[in-house]
Amino acid sequence: MTMKVLGYATHSPTDALAPFHFERREPRPRDVVIEILYCGVCHSDLHIARNDWRNTIYPAVPGHEIIGRVVSVGPEVARFKAGDTVGVGCMVDSCQQCAACGQGLEQYCEASSILTYNSVDPHDQMPTYGGYSQKIVVTDQFVLKISDSLDLAGAAPLLCAGITTWSPLRHWKVGKGSKVAVVGLGGLGHMALKLAKALEAEVTLFTRSPGKEQDARRLGADRIVLSTDAEQMKAVKNRFELIIDTVPYAHDLNPYLPTLALNGTLVLVGYLGDLEDMLNTLPLILGRKSVAGSVIGGIAETQEMLDFCGQHGIASDIELINMQEINAAYERMLKSDVKYRFVIDMASLRG
Ligand SMILES: NC(=O)c1ccc[n+]([C@@H]2O[C@H](COP(=O)([O-])OP(=O)(O)OC[C@H]3O[C@@H](n4cnc5c(N)ncnc54)[C@H](OP(=O)(O)O)[C@@H]3O)[C@@H](O)[C@H]2O)c1
Ligand SMILES: [Zn+2]
Ligand SMILES: [Zn+2]
Repeated sequence: MTMKVLGYATHSPTDALAPFHFERREPRPRDVVIEILYCGVCHSDLHIARNDWRNTIYPAVPGHEIIGRVVSVGPEVARFKAGDTVGVGCMVDSCQQCAACGQGLEQYCEASSILTYNSVDPHDQMPTYGGYSQKIVVTDQFVLKISDSLDLAGAAPLLCAGITTWSPLRHWKVGKGSKVAVVGLGGLGHMALKLAKALEAEVTLFTRSPGKEQDARRLGADRIVLSTDAEQMKAVKNRFELIIDTVPYAHDLNPYLPTLALNGTLVLVGYLGDLEDMLNTLPLILGRKSVAGSVIGGIAETQEMLDFCGQHGIASDIELINMQEINAAYERMLKSDVKYRFVIDMASLRG
């Protein structure tokens, strides 16, 4: 039998999110049924709610930073049992057959991974609905184990903001003494600072916002550079092995390229789409520098990050909100007015 669930959805780019009743699929033999306790609020939720990427399927129930408790498992599930604390991130399935899936890189699945929201499940053609809801049903391979030592609300953003910044840190082999910079201090940015610091890198924050210095230092930055100040930008010329750029909107990359060291890489994780400013190839060519992109991380890598966070006591700095406050939270997120991730307490939806 399908399962009736209450969530929050929007029906058009301009509608507010509001209560929405819908059905989750009848659990399959490999499914885990999860009661959602907390769900982080990612800027991607807002992009999808407002059709910024022009691909939103309405009604849309966002949310892909999910922490919950297992209610029941199918007969073929061995890794989980009722009562376990678990996480679900941005993906709920993938083809499991392509070269990318074979390497544990499900986020790059050639058939395209099935996202937690705004996808269509290929098995039953049902739309996927995300974590702004009471329950979710997910195949066991895409369910993550959560260390009991972590604060559960603070752990929710690890499922997207955490893995999205962890994956490039690992891919570009950041370790002790690596010179890393992060552009933008929001949800992704603050996790990037924490994770890079825990990997013992030398960490710099680029921000447009004066006034974030003190927080940035507490979160792990050794240096803060105001990106609008040409002198400060000049002072970090040829410095960084890796820059992780989390800015959500089109912006000029040219000021950052000279700050890359020889062989350095600027990896975009925030903005999807055309750049308005032409990219100057000169610093790239003269310094063998790269501009790259990266999307979330694979399931094994997500578990690695969660275990690392469990060992190092790393969680997100959050503002806990009720489901009913989501529309105001979006407006604040648009003004970069959040320290540093909203997390929805799903108890507010149970009433
Ligand atoms: N690649 C992936 O897998 C992946 C995964 C998750 C999210 N994302 C995307 O990553 C982006 C960031 O997400 P988030 O949740 O971290 O967002 P967020 O919490 O809103 O943080 C974004 C930060 O970027 C800076 N910023 C915002 N608007 C800017 C502008 N117009 N110009 C320059 N800087 C600006 C601000 O930092 P300062 O005030 O410090 O400048 C802001 O705090 C979103 O576009 C999201 O969709 C991608
Ligand atoms: Zn996200
Ligand atoms: Zn695949």
